[in-house]
Parts: sequence; C-alpha cells; structure tokens
Amino acid sequence: MRQQLIKIFPELNLITNEDLREKTIAVWQEAIEQGGWKVSDLERIPFTLLISDCPVNMIDHTRGVTQVAIEAAKKLREFNNNIYQIDDDILISGGLLHDVGKILEYKNTPAGIKKSDTGKLLRHPFSGAGLAMKHGLPDKVIHTIAVHAKEGDGGYRCPEAVIVHHADFMNFEPIKNGV
Ligand SMILES: [Fe+2]
Repeated sequence: MRQQLIKIFPELNLITNEDLREKTIAVWQEAIEQGGWKVSDLERIPFTLLISDCPVNMIDHTRGVTQVAIEAAKKLREFNNNIYQIDDDILISGGLLHDVGKILEYKNTPAGIKKSDTGKLLRHPFSGAGLAMKHGLPDKVIHTIAVHAKEGDGGYRCPEAVIVHHADFMNFEPIKNGV
C-alpha cells in the first residue's frame, strides 16, 4: 500500500524528513484500513458530501490543497520580512493529512457514500488528529489537521495551519458555489 500511496500522492516525496514522510504515509494507510477501503477507492470518494455529485475526488482535493499551500508559502516567505517562519515539511504533511479523517467520516453503502456513525460524532478534524497523534506526528501537524476547518475558527492557528485552512477553502468554495 505504501507504494500505491506514494503514486497517488507524489507530494509525499517533497517531505524531506524521512521519519515525517513515513509517519504521514502510515496515517493514510491506517485510515484506509480502519475504514475498510482500498487505495483505489480514493478515486471515487468525493472530497465533500456537502456538494451533491461532487466532481472532485479525495486525491485531487488533497493534492490541490497541498500544492496551493506550497505555492502560497513561497510567496508569503518572499514578502513577510521574516516575521514568521514556515516549515515546508509540516505544511506538506499537514496538507496531505488535513482530510484523512474523512475516510473514517464516510462509509460505503448501496446508496452511495454516506456519513458513517463515527462521522456523525467525530468530524474529520477530530478523527484525523486522533490518527495522527497515534502515529506520533509532530504537534504542529496534528494541530493543522485539528484546526483546518470550522472547528478551528476563533482559535489560534500556527502559520502552516493558516495556509492549509485557506488553501482548503480555495479548493472548496468555488466548487460549492457552482460555476
Ligand atoms: Fe479539505
């Protein structure tokens, strides 16, 4: 499964710290196994259930958010006068894992992919953070997963989490709003 994950998420290879890269892979692997999915299912799993017949799958959404975050970080670093630092490894791991909990939030049914019983109680920021904590990801990655969505509004977000949060909504709102 490791090689399949690297193939669908080539951004994993951009994580320079090998330990962080392997832990990021391990979290995806466990989510897929725990949810009873296969890696290939990610192609048909919509990135959100809030858009009916969602045209974007989990792979493209996850990659889109991660790549927008990487590009945004380059420009922020160029113009932020070194006021704060952005750790690319944290950013990329956080981008790749921000929605991993959705694999547990959803379930496969004959009528399509629906919210799971777990998902009704624990939205993906909670289940994703729990998985990441179990695998020993750095606190900043766990934090980025935990606060990337509405649950994080009104509280502190570290710079990497701010970037992933906005990259996520850039990859969500125009699709939700229709074209
Ligand atoms: Fe997302």
